[in-house]
Amino acid sequence: MSGVRIAVVGATGLVGQTILDVLRERQVPVDTLVALAHQSQGRMVQFGSTDIPVEPVEEMDWRRVDVAYFAAGNAVSERYAPRALEQGVTVIDKSSRYRMDPAVPLIVPEVNGQTLTDQKLIASPNCSTIQLVIALAPIYRRFGINRVIVSTYQAVSGSGRDAVDELASQIHGPQGPMSSPKVYPAPIAHNVLPYCDQFGEDNYTGEEWKLTRETAKILGSDVPVSATAVRVPVFVGHAESVFVTTKEGWTLDDVRHALKSQPSVRIVDNPGEGVVPTPLDASGQDQVLIGRIRKDLHDPWGLHLFVVADNLRRGAATNAVDIMDLLSHRWSAGVRRP
Ligand SMILES: NC(=O)c1ccc[n+]([C@@H]2O[C@H](COP(=O)([O-])OP(=O)(O)OC[C@H]3O[C@@H](n4cnc5c(N)ncnc54)[C@H](OP(=O)(O)O)[C@@H]3O)[C@@H](O)[C@H]2O)c1
Repeated sequence: MSGVRIAVVGATGLVGQTILDVLRERQVPVDTLVALAHQSQGRMVQFGSTDIPVEPVEEMDWRRVDVAYFAAGNAVSERYAPRALEQGVTVIDKSSRYRMDPAVPLIVPEVNGQTLTDQKLIASPNCSTIQLVIALAPIYRRFGINRVIVSTYQAVSGSGRDAVDELASQIHGPQGPMSSPKVYPAPIAHNVLPYCDQFGEDNYTGEEWKLTRETAKILGSDVPVSATAVRVPVFVGHAESVFVTTKEGWTLDDVRHALKSQPSVRIVDNPGEGVVPTPLDASGQDQVLIGRIRKDLHDPWGLHLFVVADNLRRGAATNAVDIMDLLSHRWSAGVRRP
């Protein structure tokens, strides 16, 4: 394939910068790279050894690019994605603005990439959903799923750069952890907050509803998920304690075999030697680490898993770049090119 012309909206943010890193690492052939933001216009972002000036998204001429990654929040996607689409740009949206729109595919390529047809706007799921569906997909395919109960332990980088600064200043700053929090309603250092978002319907938070609704959209409405999403004082790497009951029986060997068939899963599970997956292990790489694999004590078809991934890479940038990879293969197969 010849080079692609790419825009990254939110190029100075945690996800935008990670998209630039992943594009570079994978040596994606890039003809043009346009870095877009608002407040940091005029600054430079690094793309490999090249400094790219940050331009204001408000003044973007969308005819300059073929593909745009949107990583600047819902309001920015709502305002500018339609303008990009009008100019024929393929939009890969990291925000939640279009995820539940029935006309917009919600894609984790290795799970439901086959459902992508010729849409121009593609949504990438929430970070906590991506690692959950990667773990559940092989179990769902092999044994069916009756029920999923998940508790998350989510890193502060999931809330963006300001949250990382807030945790760092509460840990290292002169005022200590009780310095007035801005991003979270309470101090996050030395603490655990049993909500990751605003409370909504039935006292579940927005993040919890995302896990429920997005999983159903990706795997099928017959996968009922109930979630408790918790913020913990970790910089990078979301962990999830997952309880699944299946429609058919299995042995732990069957489960391990099924999980190993999922391309980005790595099993990290040797209780005898204390080998378990942790956010520090997951940080900086693209695999979904799964451990603590065990049968429930009371339900013979009940399975427990501990699922960990880097939220900025696997949960955001890597998935977005995987979506473009999938499209590129289609374009080189002559399906359609922007
Ligand atoms: N962090 C994660 O783990 C994660 C995972 C999945 C999805 N997401 C989603 O990805 C998006 C970005 O998250 P993030 O964590 O990277 O946030 P972030 O670190 O706070 O970065 C936000 C980016 O958006 C830009 N921005 C803010 N307002 C803007 C405006 N009005 N016009 C243009 N650019 C604007 C910021 O640049 P300026 O300040 O210079 O304008 C910055 O580049 C969000 O939609 C988030 O929900 C995040």
